[in-house]
Amino acid sequence: MQSMLSRAAQNATTSAIRDLLEHAQRPGMISLAGGLPDPDRFPIDQLAAASERLLRTRGRDVLQYGLTAGNAALRAHIVETTPAADTIDQVVVTTGSQQAQHLIAQVLLDPGDPVIVGDPEYLGALQAFRSREVRLLPAAVDREGIDVDAIEAMIEAGERPKLVYTVPHFHNPSGTTLSNRRRERLLELAARHGFMVVFDDPYRELGEVGSRPAEAAGHPMAVELRSVSKVLAPGLRVGWMIAPRWLCAAVERAKQSADLHTSSLSQAITLGALQSGWYGDHLDDIRAANVAKRYALCHALRDVLGTRLAFDEPAGGMFVWARFTDGTDTTSLLESALGRGVAFVPGAAFAVHSDLRTHLRLSWSTADVASLREAVVRLVG
Ligand SMILES: Cc1ncc(COP(=O)(O)O)c(C=O)c1O
Repeated sequence: MQSMLSRAAQNATTSAIRDLLEHAQRPGMISLAGGLPDPDRFPIDQLAAASERLLRTRGRDVLQYGLTAGNAALRAHIVETTPAADTIDQVVVTTGSQQAQHLIAQVLLDPGDPVIVGDPEYLGALQAFRSREVRLLPAAVDREGIDVDAIEAMIEAGERPKLVYTVPHFHNPSGTTLSNRRRERLLELAARHGFMVVFDDPYRELGEVGSRPAEAAGHPMAVELRSVSKVLAPGLRVGWMIAPRWLCAAVERAKQSADLHTSSLSQAITLGALQSGWYGDHLDDIRAANVAKRYALCHALRDVLGTRLAFDEPAGGMFVWARFTDGTDTTSLLESALGRGVAFVPGAAFAVHSDLRTHLRLSWSTADVASLREAVVRLVG
């Protein structure tokens, strides 16, 4: 009956790596594999109190259907807090950033369209683009983020990209941050050659304690994707897209047939959290724990593996992206590492075209500081 599936669904097979990672759930396993935020830091008491209050006082609204583009008060709050949008019709609330990627792919891309992505790149975005049967053009990612020279070279060679996708802060999986210089050049190229740039930015708040990531001004070729998944809780499934009005209108139409709208209750809880007195302290609490864990993981990696492993310590986010200098194949290593009780994601999972067999992504987010060292010891046995 597989043959009854659409071509896109038949092509969306699960990967061997994903199948291996099913074992990462076993008891006793230390997982450095997931991209999950630390559940010990979910603001459960605050969200429970806010939900109770909302349901008791505004239950008739927050349990009702809402506007497809999202709660107007939440969108107004977004407009007030970023120079990227002037009015609420430049904002669509989405069911996580992932839905925005899917809807953007649906409204902007036709089969065969060229789309530039980093190599390595976030798997969920690759899946969203691949589901549209586009032609993925990989650009390297280095310490300053996606390689804009490589993008310019592709254009000079005759490619006409329709869209460039990148994760500007603490990229998943490489951990790098796009420099301002490259961001500006990318948008200049976009304006000159007529392509959209999607900045998918769920990790922007996960820098140093007290840090305030700069908010960029709006740009006619830029789409900003935000999410509360990594700063409040992914179970809320609230994100938003800031984009030119014509694109917001198209995404809104596509969203109608996808889910009508993002949960009214989740949006109301999110707005309350963003406007609350506790949110700033909560962010700093997450950041402090995140820095301590990052330091513990990077320190253990240097200590235990020395020059066998090459990596740059990222300035934030959730991931260390590393390479075995002795040629260790990380997909084979995963099989034996799972037996020793540690999981990670092999680099090949994030590859578009390049050979990333000796790379791996390690997340420090959900393990505690003591287990992170043990995980590194188990990694190589
Ligand atoms: C780069 C990137 N974008 C989007 C997502 C998904 O975010 P959301 O929970 O907002 O859909 C993730 C999750 O890991 C991610 O790493």
